[in-house]
Amino acid sequence: MKYEGVRISELKHGEVINGIYILKSAELKVSVNKKTYLDIVFSDKTGEVSAKWWDAGEEDFKSLVLNKLYCVNARVDTWKDALQLTLNKIQLADEELQLTIGEFVPSAPLAPHDMLEEIYSFAAKIKNSEIRDVVMLLLEQKEEKLLYYPAAKSLHHAIRGGLLYHILRMLRLAEAICSVYDGINTDLVFAGVIIHDLAKIGELSSNELGIAEYSKTGQLLGHIVMGVLELENAGKIVGASEEVMLLLKHMIVSHHYEPEYGSPKKPMFLEAELLHHIDLIDARVYDYQNATKNLSPGQFSDPVWSLDRRSIYKADL
Ligand SMILES: [Fe+2]
Ligand SMILES: [Fe+2]
Repeated sequence: MKYEGVRISELKHGEVINGIYILKSAELKVSVNKKTYLDIVFSDKTGEVSAKWWDAGEEDFKSLVLNKLYCVNARVDTWKDALQLTLNKIQLADEELQLTIGEFVPSAPLAPHDMLEEIYSFAAKIKNSEIRDVVMLLLEQKEEKLLYYPAAKSLHHAIRGGLLYHILRMLRLAEAICSVYDGINTDLVFAGVIIHDLAKIGELSSNELGIAEYSKTGQLLGHIVMGVLELENAGKIVGASEEVMLLLKHMIVSHHYEPEYGSPKKPMFLEAELLHHIDLIDARVYDYQNATKNLSPGQFSDPVWSLDRRSIYKADL
């Protein structure tokens, strides 16, 4: 049976819909009149929508399986300017349908192998052979998982292939910046961009759909510390000099800039400073575009957590 559900981006207030969505999260809550209900988030390729399952209890909550496809019958309501589903019926999709879950997962807009190839071509432009060898080795070690890993669990680039996409767009941006300003060491900038988040493979454990959770090591150490450790190993294998290793380590260590975001040191040379800003620009562009992609011109988004809970406006032009 071919089930034609309504895409999340096509939901309209007042309709009663049938849809197939991935269950992203579910929380058991108690309403003001002391009744339990479930606060749910569904997603598909086109976006996310929250849903309320009124009068659901502990048993219903326990029966739900995260990251599985559900067939949903619901009314589309509006709550605080955002669409929200009021569930009539929810049912775990059958095994056959579960096999197609890949078609419901948001993915980077470019083909993974093309992105990887372009990243390798940037690595090949690194003239310093020690830096190039370290970068190539780290890329090769991560290559297989890079093809599907997201760059985050729920923040920017939390999509299949998101980490590749993040690195690639940063490289293109880095190249543009290096073409404007003289005197930048492009070897360091390209290397820093390629390796800065590679330890997210390990910090997160992701299935092939790009749906990730933090690993134990990821929670206890994070990708900055893990990245330095992996870099240290790679440096030993290729026999990189102390200076090269120190520079690359500093770039990983300082790329989040602030101690409260996980960086024990702020950047202390230009290329490390640039890496931080290139990283931030790419994350911001993603967040803005993601927040506005399903809006109509002239509309504001829901508050975006990663943008200090600002509501983002879609220009009416
Ligand atoms: Fe990072
Ligand atoms: Fe990053």
